[in-house]
Amino acid sequence: MAIRKIREIGDPVLYKISKEMSSMTLRNRMLIDDMFDTMYEADGVGLAAPQVGVLKRIVVIDVTGEDPLLLINPVLLETSGEQTGNEGCLSVPGKTGVVTRPSHVKVRAQNKEMEWFELEADELLARAICHEVDHLDGHLYVEKAEGPLQDVPDEEEEEE
Ligand code: NI
Repeated sequence: MAIRKIREIGDPVLYKISKEMSSMTLRNRMLIDDMFDTMYEADGVGLAAPQVGVLKRIVVIDVTGEDPLLLINPVLLETSGEQTGNEGCLSVPGKTGVVTRPSHVKVRAQNKEMEWFELEADELLARAICHEVDHLDGHLYVEKAEGPLQDVPDEEEEEE
């Protein structure tokens, strides 16, 4: 288990476009394990590889704490509906902002065996998928936030 340093807003790596992950090497396997460890350690519900300084299209998500989801090379196939709500990001510590996202998404991605699969998601999971895929294209939620960001009280932090 290894916790990696989470890059924060202003770090140039967060604004770059990540490259496809072409094969499951030992190095990539360790990266993915570290991403899950780092996300859980930070009490986040999602983490994208560029947030730990690696420009690869890898996302880990767990919106319940019991449903780890790995998306390698994710592609949003369909989005529909709309939800407006608070969003946070481990790269923007202590802040939250109101962001409107699709309420339903269909995503195609590869799993740990590099097999393609499709997943449909609603509500918080749909929001998390959109947020994390944005990271792979160099975008932070703060670009989409409506109005100024708010401070999050320490005890109630809920970050993605
Ligand atoms: Ni984020």
